Amino acid sequence: MKKNISVAIDGPSAAGKSTIAKMVAKKENFIYIDTGAMYRCVAYYCLTQKIDLNDEKAVEQAIEHIQIRLTPDNKVYLNDEDVSNQIRQDQVSLGASCVSKYQVVRSFLVDEQRKMAKAGNVILDGRDIGTVVLPDASIKIYLDATIECRARRRMLERKEKGIDLSLEETIKEIELRDWKDSTRKHSPLRCAEDAIVIDSTDLSIDEVVSRIINLVN
Ligand code: DC
Repeated sequence: MKKNISVAIDGPSAAGKSTIAKMVAKKENFIYIDTGAMYRCVAYYCLTQKIDLNDEKAVEQAIEHIQIRLTPDNKVYLNDEDVSNQIRQDQVSLGASCVSKYQVVRSFLVDEQRKMAKAGNVILDGRDIGTVVLPDASIKIYLDATIECRARRRMLERKEKGIDLSLEETIKEIELRDWKDSTRKHSPLRCAEDAIVIDSTDLSIDEVVSRIINLVN
């Protein structure tokens, strides 16, 4: 029997993981699993329910009330509500980084991600896909870029939403999130030993996408 192909993409914030993963998924007809969106859902739920994100026990209780669904058209549903836009707010980004340090949150979401990954050919992006979620992934990519490049891309994205932040502020914010994600105790951001590192600083989106598609094929 032919084994399903699984592609793991890890890397720091704003490296372009989700843009690239979505494009590869579309071109190759893979299922895309945005694991960051799942951590964002947990944070968003807690924020809307006024649950203190620093209270691990309270967050642990909250996850019993959380159901997350990712659809083929890349919408994110939290308890049957479409929260695709809401979970992209800055407050939710920081909140996601906070709740993702709790082992109970990670186990809950990693179980869900592994179940989802059985559905066919899949591409997942996150921080621990190649190291924890799918250590036997067919292809592991570690997507990186310089901090300045990532900050400039994030600023552009924000500008489109009418938000203006300076380069310095954006760099600080991304560095803080990278620091949190790579120094936490459970499943910190790491490059898997067998991952292929792609530095996208001087590459276009299409170039990165075609490199990954070449690897898949
Ligand atoms: O990829 P993202 O920015 O949407 O992720 C939001 C946060 O979720 C990120 O700061 C760290 C956390 N996360 C994680 O710990 N593990 C993953 N596999 C994906 C995201």
